[in-house]
Amino acid sequence: MKKFNIALDGPSGVGKSSAADGLAARYGLTHIDTGAMYRAIALGMHEKGIEPKESRELTEALNGLEVKLEGDQIFLNGNNVSSQIRTPLISNLASVYSAIPSVRRKLVALQQEIASEKGYILDGRDICDVVLPDAEVKIYLDASAQARAMRRYLQDKNKGLDVDYEDVLSQIQQRDEQDRTRAVSPLKISADAEVIDSSELNLEQTIEALAAHVEKTLQKGAL
Ligand code: DC
Repeated sequence: MKKFNIALDGPSGVGKSSAADGLAARYGLTHIDTGAMYRAIALGMHEKGIEPKESRELTEALNGLEVKLEGDQIFLNGNNVSSQIRTPLISNLASVYSAIPSVRRKLVALQQEIASEKGYILDGRDICDVVLPDAEVKIYLDASAQARAMRRYLQDKNKGLDVDYEDVLSQIQQRDEQDRTRAVSPLKISADAEVIDSSELNLEQTIEALAAHVEKTLQKGAL
C-alpha cells in the first residue's frame, strides 16, 4: 500500500479527534489535531493580551509563538499546554482567533509541511479543501448539535463537573455559528468529502464507518 493522507473535517464536539486516533492506529498513520494548534495560538495570544484582529502587535506576537506537536501532546514555545487548551474559555477564544487570516496562514503552512511526506490523518475544519486538497481520503464527520451536546454533557457529568445540558448545547451552537460564518475558510462540507453522520453511532461504530470508507477507496485502487 502506498503512503496516504486522510483529511477529516467536521463541527465542534463531533468526536473527530477520537475517531482520528482510531483510524491512525488501524492504518499506521500519525494523527495531527489541528484544532489543538488553533487552541495553543489562542492561549498564547490571550496570555499576551493581544486583541483578536489583524494588527502589528498580532503579527509580532504570532512570530513569537512556536507550536509543536509530539504524539498527543502540544507545546507552545516549549511548554506543554495540552491541558491548559481544553478549557471553555480557550474553546471560545480558539474559534475567535482562528477567524484571523494571518493566524490561519501560519498554521495551514505548518500543517501542510508536516503532512507533505504522507502517512498522516489531519482533523479540523478546512482540511479537505484548504490544507490537504490532494488527500487520498476525504471525510466530513457530522452529528446533530443535540447529539454532540448530549455527549459532551455526559462526559463532563461523569467527570463530576456541574454542567447544564442547555448551556452545553448553546455553547456548541455558538461555536458552530462562528465557525460557519467566518469570512476565511468557514466550516463547510467539501464537495469531495464522504459525509458520515455519527448522531446515532458510538465511537467504535463511528471508526468502523470511517474505516469502511477508507477500505472502499483502497478497493477502488486509489491508494
Ligand atoms: O476542533 P477544536 O474544537 O479543538 O477546534 C478549536 C477551534 O479551532 C474551533 O472553533 C475551530 C478552529 N479550527 C479551525 O478553524 N480550523 C481547523 N482546521 C481546526 C480548528
